[in-house]
Amino acid sequence: MKVLLPFTMSFALASAAAVTQTLDPFIYGAFGKTATFSVANQLGFFTNQGLDVTLSPIPNSTFGYATLLSGGYDLLTGTVDNAVNLRFNSEKPLTVVGQLDLGPELVLAAVPGINNVLDLKGKALMVDAATSGYAFVLRKILALHGLQLGTDYTFQIVGATSTRFQLLSQGSLADGTPVFATILTYPFTSLATTANPPLPILARVSDFVAPFFSSAITVRSEDADPSANPSSTIPRFVAALLGASRFLGDPANKLCSIQAIATDNGFSDTVAEAAYLSATNSVSGETAQVDFEPSRLGILNVVDVRMLSGGFAQAGLAFDFADALVPGDGLLLDLRVRDVALGLVQDLESGECPLL
Ligand SMILES: *[C@@H]1O[C@H](CO)[C@@H](O)[C@H](O)[C@H]1NC(C)=O
Repeated sequence: MKVLLPFTMSFALASAAAVTQTLDPFIYGAFGKTATFSVANQLGFFTNQGLDVTLSPIPNSTFGYATLLSGGYDLLTGTVDNAVNLRFNSEKPLTVVGQLDLGPELVLAAVPGINNVLDLKGKALMVDAATSGYAFVLRKILALHGLQLGTDYTFQIVGATSTRFQLLSQGSLADGTPVFATILTYPFTSLATTANPPLPILARVSDFVAPFFSSAITVRSEDADPSANPSSTIPRFVAALLGASRFLGDPANKLCSIQAIATDNGFSDTVAEAAYLSATNSVSGETAQVDFEPSRLGILNVVDVRMLSGGFAQAGLAFDFADALVPGDGLLLDLRVRDVALGLVQDLESGECPLL
């Protein structure tokens, strides 16, 4: 009995601990899974932070930002152009706490038979929304080839990248209307280029705009100051992503990261390796902005691209972008959540892989 009792007790305590360990729910709005998310999700970074993360797919940007503002997501990631637009044109209380990526795999892709940008003359091109970030990038690239919206091509407004990729792959909208081209991003470009037959890539955005600030970690402005509750769920979620970003950026973790991407998305090794290479590209990937530091030139380029298409009608000509884009408390770029999260990061050992 004297030997068995401690054994029985510690066994009971261990099971009780396993059963009663509670994770805080966290609703994450996202257009898709980044490589950083897949690493965090597969390697336990979220559960290590005590979080039960639900990725809620955003069907289109209009819906996504309205849902964040009304409290339907705790945080979202989306191209920073949306936050720039909604805050500077419409004074919406949105705050960017860090830069997740530089536009990995952001390309203009087409259906087989369309082989260069000039082939798009007279065609309709699929976009998420006519006045959101990727539509403006598309207009810039086409303008640099002498093609203007309305005169030389039109838009088909169909929604997020996953939807556009699906329609591009099948060659038509649900009602049979033919489709020709659209902007794709990670990981759909890897799926497009490894498809049989591969979908042609007409242009890479990073050949026209770089650095480009694409995915922004975005919260409601009321959540931008974590000082009252530094271990609340938002800084812990950002800490999980920070740990995953560092892991993904370490070349010693290449095989483990590819495995995480493959498992999280149900991808073949070929697609997962292509996706990994784009996620770790130093010009356009997810790991070049160390610890999610925002790129000033990257966001100035986003503003430039929107300006080219007259996208600041409400902000007006006198708006001081140079000043409004300096990071600071209460401003669009407010890094207080990121800074608190840096103190909460739980790193995995380099080369350690719970999956392999
Ligand atoms: C955006 O998504 C919402 C919710 O699914 C939908 O009701 C709305 O029609 C969509 N808007 C566009 C432009 O696709």
